[in-house]
Amino acid sequence: MLARRRDLAGGIGSHLLNDNPGTMKGVILAGGTGSRLHPLTRITNKHLLPLYDRPMINYGIEALVGAGVGEIMLVTGGTHAGEFLRLLGNGHEFGIDRLFYAYQEKAGGIAEALGLAEKFVAGDRCVVLLADNVFERSLRPCVEAFRKQKSGARVVLSRESDRAHLCNLGVAEFDGNHRIARIIEKPEQPPSDFAVTGVYFYDESVWRVLPELKVSGRGELEITDVNNWYLDHSQMEYDVLDGFWGDAGESIPAYHAVGDFVRAHGANKES
Ligand code: G1P
Repeated sequence: MLARRRDLAGGIGSHLLNDNPGTMKGVILAGGTGSRLHPLTRITNKHLLPLYDRPMINYGIEALVGAGVGEIMLVTGGTHAGEFLRLLGNGHEFGIDRLFYAYQEKAGGIAEALGLAEKFVAGDRCVVLLADNVFERSLRPCVEAFRKQKSGARVVLSRESDRAHLCNLGVAEFDGNHRIARIIEKPEQPPSDFAVTGVYFYDESVWRVLPELKVSGRGELEITDVNNWYLDHSQMEYDVLDGFWGDAGESIPAYHAVGDFVRAHGANKES
């Protein structure tokens, strides 16, 4: 279950509800160098590594399909991109109606990879998922909340009490009204216990934001900068996850912790 925020700047009132939700496209980002998992990722793409009984990418596909997203673009790169086609084919076996692929020429960050999906998403809205993120519970309530949202963006937070862990993530800073004021990427001093997970919802404004981003200190176009643009325009809502969330690409111990979790408890569960 998700504890959806009841209220954002006075509430998700009827004036903010979306009368014409349209299609929501799914974008799964499965590129990158996977350097934090070296040497495991010297010979394959991180998202093809096993988590218990399946390659990592399968959990992300299941998360979107299980949440009712049937049109998906998978963005990947590197020398193992062809293996995704071999694994997923046209996607029908996994419940995908239409599966598209995009190739990222260089690992330029999450926001750069998202830019490759612009023509695929076209006039629709999208849910973006980092394929190394694994969720115990279904993302369906978040997807449904965004379908009802009139405009803007949405992030999904997870409570994390380990301060050292928060320093490796994006972390939400709140104002006095329980609204997110800012997201700080890899903070030295985490401003709260709420990590920003790798699932993001965007309306069509995102395509205007991406070309304006500046390369960050780690040489990437940061998704946190996209989210802060929406925050600056008071166009961001959020959910807080209940249940396990793990980023299997964060480190080798994290990769094994996520594998152990899904082996014991499963993932993407409806209840
Ligand atoms: C990315 C985001 C970060 C987020 C994390 C979740 O980090 O930049 O804000 O908390 O994914 O997995 P990265 O994996 O690129 O270090």
